[in-house]
Amino acid sequence: MAFREYKIGARMFGLALGGSMMITLYMPSLDIVKVGSTEYGVRKSLSFGRVGGFSLEDPFLRGWSKPKTVLLKKDPRTGAAMDPTYAYVYEPGVRFTSSIPHPRILGVGVKDLSLEKGHINEAREAEGAVFLVQEGRYEGKKYPYIENATATRNWTPDVVLSSVKDSDIQKIGSGKIMFVREGCWWCHTLLPEETQDWQVFGAPPALGDFNSETPTAFGSDRKAPDLLHIGSRNSSREWMMMHFFNPRLVQPHSIMPRFDYLWGEKDASGNRIDYDKWRADYNAYTAGERVYPPDVPVPAQDSDARMLIDFILSLK
Ligand code: HEC
Repeated sequence: MAFREYKIGARMFGLALGGSMMITLYMPSLDIVKVGSTEYGVRKSLSFGRVGGFSLEDPFLRGWSKPKTVLLKKDPRTGAAMDPTYAYVYEPGVRFTSSIPHPRILGVGVKDLSLEKGHINEAREAEGAVFLVQEGRYEGKKYPYIENATATRNWTPDVVLSSVKDSDIQKIGSGKIMFVREGCWWCHTLLPEETQDWQVFGAPPALGDFNSETPTAFGSDRKAPDLLHIGSRNSSREWMMMHFFNPRLVQPHSIMPRFDYLWGEKDASGNRIDYDKWRADYNAYTAGERVYPPDVPVPAQDSDARMLIDFILSLK
């Protein structure tokens, strides 16, 4: 007899646990899948590519297999001037952001327009593709949608990349990998929280900003300024360059570590970076033996530093 009560209790416990799991995990997920992606969310996920952290395409977190975000000022095929437009270029073999193979992630409206007008289902990873973000109407409402410009305008990754200067190419997707790998999130958040925070760090994100982004890299414990809108507060590439090479160059009491090793061996002009000499000169400067600190090398096109700065400046 005594055993029966125990069985009932165990079942009741199971029911309560299962019920609370339903409420906390399953039911919100039903709501979340109904949320349509915002334009910001669509652009962000197209810039980041498939995974913004560890993945089998990039097991050592080197920023491999990521799209490039390109600022177009003229039509890459005809050369005709056009309003500045961002194109998201996936070279052959680069994995698409999840909403291309699984458009349902985009939510009602965004998904329908992306399929009907944007032809995203015709994009093939093996051949590469170029995507644009457009605005359209679906059942009387405005939505952003993805256009597969490779299908609609015959813009191939090669044609687009060879039509622009290097300074119009941003390696935002690879830069997010650097942000995750270097542990920037130990100190910085990408999530202004409620109340006074908004006045200092800007608007909090909306739910639809995250469709197809993984992982989100919100951070949790903040020891340093929130970076969700850093590119709006400070858009200076030179400042970022100096600050990442050694934060004390621009913020004398900063506790942020220096990330000079992200420059690698050579600078943008192909000269070897002499870190020992740089530090010796810097120490002379802090000791008051030099008037100016030594110049910070400009990061090479394929350096980790360049990718990280592209990512940080894209956070608007
Ligand atoms: C040990 C904690 C710590 C880590 C790790 C860290 N930072 Fe910082 N960061 C700070 C602090 C403190 C400040 C404010 C002082 C300053 O500007 O240096 C700051 C400032 C900044 C700023 C300027 C913010 C503003 O509002 O002006 C940027 C951009 C930044 N960090 C980016 C990064 C990135 C990217 C990484 C990873 C590569 C990183 N930080 C890693 C502590 C950290």
